Amino acid sequence: MKDYDERIKELLGKMTLEEKVGQLQQCGPSLVGAFVVSFEELLNMMFDGRISQEEFGRLMGTAEQDFHEEDLRAGRIGSYNGVGDAETVNRLQKIAVEETRLGIPLLFGYDVIHGFKTVTPIPLAESCAWEPDLWERTGRMAADEATAAGVHMTFAPMVDAAKDARWGRVSEGAGEDALLNGLYGAAKVKGFQGEDLSRKDSMAACVKHFAAYGAGEAGRDYNRVDMSEQRLYEEYLPAYKACIDAGARAVMPAFNDINGVPCSVSRKLLRDILREDWGFDGMTVSDSNAIAECVDHGIAEDKRDAAKQAILAGMDMDMSSNSYIENMKELVESGEVPMDVLDEAVANILRVKFELGLFDDPYRTDSQRESQTMGKPEYRALGREAAQKSMVLLKNDGVLPLAKEKKIGIIGELASDRGEMTGAWAIGANGDDCISLTDACDARGIPYTYSKDGKNILKMAIESDVLIAVIGERKDESGEAASRASITLKPEDEELLKGLHTFGKPVVVILFNGRPLAIPQLNETASAILEAWHPGVEAGNALLDILYGEVNPSGKLTTTFPYTTGQCPMYYAHINTGRPGGRSKFTSKYLDTPLEPVYPFGYGLSYTSYEYSGLKVEKTEKAFRISAEVKNTGDRAGDEIVQCYVQDVVAKRVRPVKELKDFAKVSLEPGEEKEVVFEIPFEKLGYYDREMNYVVEPGLFRFYVGGNSRDTLMAESVL
Ligand code: NOJ
Repeated sequence: MKDYDERIKELLGKMTLEEKVGQLQQCGPSLVGAFVVSFEELLNMMFDGRISQEEFGRLMGTAEQDFHEEDLRAGRIGSYNGVGDAETVNRLQKIAVEETRLGIPLLFGYDVIHGFKTVTPIPLAESCAWEPDLWERTGRMAADEATAAGVHMTFAPMVDAAKDARWGRVSEGAGEDALLNGLYGAAKVKGFQGEDLSRKDSMAACVKHFAAYGAGEAGRDYNRVDMSEQRLYEEYLPAYKACIDAGARAVMPAFNDINGVPCSVSRKLLRDILREDWGFDGMTVSDSNAIAECVDHGIAEDKRDAAKQAILAGMDMDMSSNSYIENMKELVESGEVPMDVLDEAVANILRVKFELGLFDDPYRTDSQRESQTMGKPEYRALGREAAQKSMVLLKNDGVLPLAKEKKIGIIGELASDRGEMTGAWAIGANGDDCISLTDACDARGIPYTYSKDGKNILKMAIESDVLIAVIGERKDESGEAASRASITLKPEDEELLKGLHTFGKPVVVILFNGRPLAIPQLNETASAILEAWHPGVEAGNALLDILYGEVNPSGKLTTTFPYTTGQCPMYYAHINTGRPGGRSKFTSKYLDTPLEPVYPFGYGLSYTSYEYSGLKVEKTEKAFRISAEVKNTGDRAGDEIVQCYVQDVVAKRVRPVKELKDFAKVSLEPGEEKEVVFEIPFEKLGYYDREMNYVVEPGLFRFYVGGNSRDTLMAESVL
């Protein structure tokens, strides 16, 4: 990457104090219109039912956006959040470049979480493909579309490993495992940023939420995180570090506190770990309003105090709280914030603007490129591939794939509600872009009968050979501020299923959801369960591809499905305790629920079967070489995700019963057998000892290879 230090220094030399502070300010358009409450309050009114969704839509339709242009002209804005159309971006950029004293270009940030126009499956779903190459390709596509709309930076990837299914934002990351989150995040960073950040189709990645946002107590959003240093370093930080190592140019500190210090004001996170230990020289941007929220955390007296603490800790840009713009000038003038500290924050932001090429070409797009880029056929095809690879077959008694001649009856709103296909965080797309299951049936001429709510379906049930229930969560039931205290199916879905079973026909359940659900009964009663998650714009096509066997499902869970909510947090890499759960009374277990999950991490079926054999472990000079044979014992070609786990049997701190260390996706024709080999360097087998030293200790290790975290072969070796 080019070194822009000289140009940054020169620019800083010309900037007034006000102009410097302006660079730290990120704001979104405010809404002004026919309502006298704030946008947040209006949203609250809709969510708590004081106004209907339609009324909300009507009011929003009458509202106008205020882009704070006077502030922009005066050099008081360095960045916008949430502006995603080429015309507006270029209009605002023109003001910045032509009408401000120094002409410093704006940086436009946007939440491009799983696609922009061509919305791909939610991240939790896409992670179930276990395919870094796919993750990178969909990231590249998102960057092409988003940059065409004027976006320079995406607030993604989110790599918060999440072990608690109650947390709504489980949907936005790659599941419970740090290694997988790191690989997913690194692939996204490469995809978003491309080979050269200054290319018009590259956008900067902003890794979030630093750190351990997924570990909030009781799965409640924004809640405290209290954990040992060792755990933080072993189970959470590696995912963020993998993204920094992949070259991510921005980092968003998390809302939560860790051990009593909100991440937004954590010098340890933002300076010691991020910059000193990891060598990060990009920019940090707060989460929305997070600096001001330090007052609510009870760690700052007021916004001024919060601003001071945040910038001293290493927070460069203030998203939406106005804490910097209102107080920083005075804080610097009074000497409470040294000019050097301010300069460093400004330099970090300017560096990213230089790298994006904004000083050479502030207008990276126009309306023509925008309209030519969105939703191209090859992008729709990629969206479909991603959806096919993300779905996980949880159960199948043989009813799937469906024979063409079977008459199908489809039940459930989610089978036809296009707007629900995308899941949380899909701002650039709408229902018109989506293909639902019933749309796809119509397009392919597949006859079906359909009932939205499962009422009065006697005739339909009698005439159908197979009933397909499409149930689960609507898109606003996961994502931000969507924690659930109970992760079961909804009572109305339970009722519906009960009713369907009375007809004695096979019931295939398609699940739409943004988190693991506790579905032990469903596992008992359904003939087949296909976990579709929120599959994106190509939902219906991908579903039919799998239901009719044109595609053999290959997705595997990256998150554990518990029996019951009370088991949360539940994850495969747990420790043994001194009394591992067993049959005797005084062991670590529950009285009223099994110890095992319904579906373990790494689990997923296909229309063929695989057999594992011949696990061998050899020691080379610097690594363990683990090999096993995998055979396709069924009659269809398939892709099997082969997983390799390790256990350090005796150590100075208790270690997980197994930890994922590597995996491979292997294509196998019917009857074909392949050898799969993993090389695990010794240095990857370490942990943090009681004094926080990373140590790799000699001793016994167990190696597990299999198609999920539960059903594995095991072999041992000594280091
Ligand atoms: C709040 C969310 O926590 C964060 O993930 C997102 O990027 C910002 N809002 C901006 O929309």
